[in-house]
Amino acid sequence: MAIERTFSILKPDATRRNLTGKINAVIEGAGLRIVAQKRIHMTTAQAEAFYGVHSERGFFRDLVTFMTSGPVVVQVLEGENAVLKHREVMGATNPANADEGTIRKLFAESIEANSVHGSDSLENAATELAYFFAGTEIVG
Ligand code: RTP
Ligand code: MG
Repeated sequence: MAIERTFSILKPDATRRNLTGKINAVIEGAGLRIVAQKRIHMTTAQAEAFYGVHSERGFFRDLVTFMTSGPVVVQVLEGENAVLKHREVMGATNPANADEGTIRKLFAESIEANSVHGSDSLENAATELAYFFAGTEIVG
């Protein structure tokens, strides 16, 4: 297995409920290292571009409204097989279907307000993390 980097967001429902530390503890407990992190408030343009792949989906406008409804924490995570490992520790998109012990099972409020984002491939991870972080901000 290779050391990978993936991109993570702690979503507005998580920051609103002051869950940054609790979610980071689950991420670190899974063996992932947080090698970059910052708190931002996404603009509508940033959220539309980030979720551009979903622009034709029925939930797109609601998703953009939700992701700009409060601060988020954007992160770069590093570790063995980081992309898949992070997706596993996040759990299913709909918390009703998420496995015990996953972030979404523990914390998510709904299929939309599901507390975290994680890249779904190594290729998308590279694109997504470069959208929010300069190379000099990532300290491995
Ligand atoms: P993410 O991209 O945030 O890591 O989540 P994901 O891969 O598990 O889910 P994806 O299909 O990429 O959907 C992106 C986000 O859109 C919201 N969503 N709402 N109302 C709905 O039916 C619905 N479906 C998806 C969620 O916030 C989801 O994480
Ligand atoms: Mg996704």
